[in-house]
This record gives sequence, structure tokens and C-alpha cells, in this order.
Amino acid sequence: MAENKTFTMIKPDAVQDNHIGGIIQMMEEGGFRVVALKKTRLTPERAGKFYEVHKERPFYNDLVRYMSSGPIVAMILEKENAVADFRKLIGATNPAQAEEGTIRKKYAKSVEANAVHGSDSDENAQIEGDFFFGEDERF
Ligand code: PPS
Repeated sequence: MAENKTFTMIKPDAVQDNHIGGIIQMMEEGGFRVVALKKTRLTPERAGKFYEVHKERPFYNDLVRYMSSGPIVAMILEKENAVADFRKLIGATNPAQAEEGTIRKKYAKSVEANAVHGSDSDENAQIEGDFFFGEDERF
């Protein structure tokens, strides 16, 4: 994906707790524009594929189980310096370490149920956006 785009998911816990609107509001107020958006549910197979890069990590099976446990909201977002700025906006993976004003500080419950995903590179933003969206779903 170009340098001005990133990919995000609102994770099952935050969807379940009715925080879709609050989280998107923080994204928009942070200067991000929604390019693509869908509510969907990952099968365990699709979640396993999405997180394949983490396959060797001890939490992989838990992560796949959790991410396929309920609906998620997938989005492509646009802003200058999107990947880095978005990771600042979401805060640390572990909410206990997330700074005030970040999405995870406000909405994350644990290192697993941490409310949102954000791509870690322009290359992965492209791969992850393509995983969910066709060209005719981006505006
Ligand atoms: S990151 O954001 O990639 O630097 O974070 P990382 O620590 O490498 O974690 C990668 C993803 O795994 C999730 N994670 C966990 N899930 C369940 N249990 C434990 N202990 C755990 N630790 C990390 C973390 O939320 C990242 O998911 P995404 O969807 O990328 O945010």
C-alpha cells in the first residue's frame, strides 16, 4: 500500500462491547480518512492465514482463536505517514503500557483483547488491505 495508507481491524472484544463508533471517531479525529470498511467474521482458517507471520510465536493459537471468536471491523485508512502515525494513535500492544489518549488506553482490556490491530509496515498494510478488500471497495 502507498505510504499514506494503513490497515486496521477493530477486534472482537471492542465490537462486542459496542465501541465501533467510539473507535472510528478517535481515528477520524486523529486525521485518518476511511477508504474502505466492512464488518465481517474471520474463520479460524482465515485468521490463521492473516497472522501466519506469527506462527512460531507462543500465543499464535490463542490469537487465531480469539480473532475468529466474533465479528471484526476491517478498514483501510488514509493519512500522510499513515502506518507510523496510526501505531502512535493505537498505543502499545499491552494496554498496561499504552499512553493516555491512545485507542488501546481507552478501549483495550488485555494484551490479547487489545481492541485494534494496526499494520506494522507499508508492505504489510498493502498485503492486509488486499486480504479484505477488492479494488471496487476502496474510495
Ligand atoms: S506488534 O504490534 O506486531 O508489534 O505486536 P506483537 O507483540 O509482535 O504482537 C503481534 C500480534 O499478536 C498479538 N499478541 C498476543 N495475542 C495473544 N496473546 C498474547 N500474549 C499476545 N501478545 C501479542 C498482538 O496483539 C498483535 O496482534 P495485532 O492484531 O497485530 O495487534
